[in-house]
Amino acid sequence: MPLDIDVFDLNRIGPDFIENPHPTLHALRARSPMHRNGDGSVYLTRHDDVLKVYQSRAMSSDKTAAFGDKFGACPLFTHHTTSLVFNDPPRHTVVRKLISGAFTPRKLTEFESLIEGIVDRLLDQVEDMGRLDLIDDFAKVLPTEIISVMLGIPQEFRARLRGYSLAILGALDPVVTPERLEAGNRAVEEFGAILSGLIDHRRANPDGGGQGEVLEALIFGEHEGRRLTQDELIQNCIFLLNAGHETTTSFVGNALGSLFDNPDQHRLLRDDPGLIGSAVEELLRVESPLQIGNRLALEDIELSHGTVPKGTYIHTSIAAANRDPAVFGDPDRLDLARRPNRHLAFITGTHVCLGASLARAEGRIAIGRLVRRFPGIAQDGPRVRVPLARFRGFASLPVRVR
Ligand code: HEM
Repeated sequence: MPLDIDVFDLNRIGPDFIENPHPTLHALRARSPMHRNGDGSVYLTRHDDVLKVYQSRAMSSDKTAAFGDKFGACPLFTHHTTSLVFNDPPRHTVVRKLISGAFTPRKLTEFESLIEGIVDRLLDQVEDMGRLDLIDDFAKVLPTEIISVMLGIPQEFRARLRGYSLAILGALDPVVTPERLEAGNRAVEEFGAILSGLIDHRRANPDGGGQGEVLEALIFGEHEGRRLTQDELIQNCIFLLNAGHETTTSFVGNALGSLFDNPDQHRLLRDDPGLIGSAVEELLRVESPLQIGNRLALEDIELSHGTVPKGTYIHTSIAAANRDPAVFGDPDRLDLARRPNRHLAFITGTHVCLGASLARAEGRIAIGRLVRRFPGIAQDGPRVRVPLARFRGFASLPVRVR
């Protein structure tokens, strides 16, 4: 039955959309690419429109007004409105400058050997287990370890990070239950208290012995004579921890899910490890971990199907842009050798993902080594999807490796 696009509303999506959004996204792109939701916001599904929005300087990421309506005064409001991703320049510029010092090519080279060490250690454990949950036992451990080392998070807190991050990021979904709001607020409070203690400790004891370099850079770094306040430090550390591990966990899980669904491509990668560079891009394209973005138009913007007026709240469908047939031939097909691959999984512009090179390195090493070391790796039970529209990933993906 054809989808009734006229009644589609992003604020009223259900489990079918979350399970597989692509039939709806293809229909929207073909018939209503600048779709109006009931609240007056628009939902964009064409690659050229989404790209134009991200490239425009007349777009705001500041969510003070929108989150004021959505959350009211509460820890979630403080957290999200203080995170750099939801700030505009000049406030955004200060935090971004301070964080980006930690992501230079030199630093990335150091991180690569750290990633290789963690991946190999995890793969030894995987081999011993034989059957495992790819998410719990592999995909979430790697990025959690990396970002924890960067921020100097002690071992005893690391196991709690994914729970916190899903609770905090889950509250950003278009539809949020009161229970989810409560869980999100609790997570910000608990996580914030842990970080506050760590920041105080680090301020008094600056040399962390190779761990927590990023935290130190944030505490002591200055941009144009200004340092971050305690609240900015706490909230941006929470954001970095979330940004640094939730998406990468989903990336590795989604990638393996896609390979299981496409045995010919799985075989191709196993037989030709040199394919891993283009494979990482293609796996990010077909199942992007972050599927929906938002901006507020500060000026009228001319898009493919008309003008979006100043003051409009825009939702960008990264998932739909990444399967736009105008840019990607046979867009629903997984083609690990696809080149060029102008996907928008990390977006572009002022807020382009600061951890993109790190995430790519994590994906290259983790997916590449997993597929090579366990040629018989296969799904071994039903997958469970994270029930969110904005963040796409699995809560569970059982596999066996022999
Ligand atoms: C596959 C994994 C990842 C994906 C798909 C991803 C995707 C994205 C996207 C789409 C944005 C832009 C959000 C917006 O403005 O609407 C973003 C921002 C950001 N990401 Fe990532 N990310 C990933 C991994 C990472 C990692 C590993 C880190 C750091 C350790 C990181 C740090 C950041 C930061 C700090 C921002 C905010 C940049 C700013 O506002 O200027 N990300 N990411």
